[in-house]
Amino acid sequence: MVKICCIGAGYVGGPTMAVIALKCPSIEVAVVDISKSRIAAWNSDQLPIYEPGLDGVVKQCRGRNLFFSTDVEKHVFEADIVFVSVNTPTKTQGLGAGKAADLTYWESAARMIADVSKSDKIVVEKSTVPVKTAEAIEKILTHNSKGIKFQILSNPEFLAEGTAIQDLFNPDRVLIGGRETPEGQKAIQALKDVYSQWVPEERILTTNLWSAELSKLAANAFLAQRISSVNAMSALCEATGANVQQVSYSVGTDSRIGPKFLNASVGFGGSCFQKDILNLVYICECNGLPEVAEYWKQVIKINDYQKSRFVNRVVSSMFNTVSSKKIAILGFAFKKDTGDTRETPAIDVCQGLLGDKANLSIYDPQVTEDQIQRDLSMNKFDWDHPIHLQPTSPTTVKKVSVVWDAYEATKDAHGLCILTEWDEFKTLDYQRIFDNMQKPAFVFDGRNIVDADKLREIGFIVYSIGKPLDPWLKDMPAVA
Ligand code: NAI
Repeated sequence: MVKICCIGAGYVGGPTMAVIALKCPSIEVAVVDISKSRIAAWNSDQLPIYEPGLDGVVKQCRGRNLFFSTDVEKHVFEADIVFVSVNTPTKTQGLGAGKAADLTYWESAARMIADVSKSDKIVVEKSTVPVKTAEAIEKILTHNSKGIKFQILSNPEFLAEGTAIQDLFNPDRVLIGGRETPEGQKAIQALKDVYSQWVPEERILTTNLWSAELSKLAANAFLAQRISSVNAMSALCEATGANVQQVSYSVGTDSRIGPKFLNASVGFGGSCFQKDILNLVYICECNGLPEVAEYWKQVIKINDYQKSRFVNRVVSSMFNTVSSKKIAILGFAFKKDTGDTRETPAIDVCQGLLGDKANLSIYDPQVTEDQIQRDLSMNKFDWDHPIHLQPTSPTTVKKVSVVWDAYEATKDAHGLCILTEWDEFKTLDYQRIFDNMQKPAFVFDGRNIVDADKLREIGFIVYSIGKPLDPWLKDMPAVA
């Protein structure tokens, strides 16, 4: 029986391994982590991450051919294939601070693999890593190998949170990069044999190691660039009276462009986009390509601009001050159908409003008060470390309350901001909300999900990103 071990039981390691276990009953899969609380949660009825369909998959396989454990060394020792899906934070200190990937967790995983292995193994990069990481990992493994042979593969993960299970069941492609040697090709084939149990052959792409590593960074950079492009357009739409939804629909019907990923919003978030672009920028700079680095940097700059533009809209519309006003925040996760708040635009928007002394009442169907307080008081990039190693802030943000109901959040509020596109926000009783708010009552829709005309009929003053401006807002420029 082939044995797989995955180091890192996070948003990637957990779902990907659960699906491999489901689709390959003849393979034994162990997911290991240094975080005891994470593993305990994977072994409980309350999984550590919310992902539609994940519960069912885990329940079918757990205890059969899927195991979650903190005994990292035992499972690595036993495995034929070791996936590494640990954190790859952005460095906050030293060379490359603010851009380069911090490979501390990766390196310690590699050293541990070399230490405990007594048989040949395939080591698979699942984490997103800078180009040429495989070379470094290979050196660590071979210099500590005691005669054991390791083959390194790059198998970046393209799943999107919120649709992870669907994406894993039916991926656009699976990418496997390896050495162009007979041993490398044999390792590629071994991993291909796993995926081909449910993924059609033509969707399994094989490349050299560096192409696979770079393709992951490039794919995320392209996706984020689409969002920044449409968000840049949204600012111009507001200035000219065009409607960004009409513009993106028209643009997206061109088959060369396509309709996906063209929704204007308060900005992109999630653990990967910003981190991967910063990483790409750093690699370009290190390779003497400052023009290329500048080009990609701009994608992040527009994203930051969009978030501060949103905050400025809120403040300038409400008589240039939100001091001591109650602002309801609907949605805190970076997108719907996930409880993940890493790099969510809600953090910057909330911090911007708190900077103007607002009182915030926050509601998200999947995010806990503890998580929101941590996010609002944590330093940039600190979130990307194993949970028990994250610095905890001694203070809670006092002007923030977290409630479990949208009506409670909006009661007596002066304004409400929609920051995540949860379906339930589309069908709220906005008349009831209006009746219980201070007047004039403002809605700032950061996801373009409400029917602005209907809300205006109720009496709200409505701002929708990239849409023709409410007369109220027209004379109040929101220049970031
Ligand atoms: P995560 O933070 O949810 O999980 C990483 C896990 O690794 C943590 O539970 C941590 O405790 C564990 N860990 C760290 N060092 C360890 C060690 N030495 N031994 C055992 N366990 C260790 O992170 P996530 O989101 O799963 O991401 C993992 C990697 O995959 C990152 O490189 C990320 O950029 C990449 N990625 C993430 C995607 C996403 O949608 N979240 C999508 C594609 C790639």
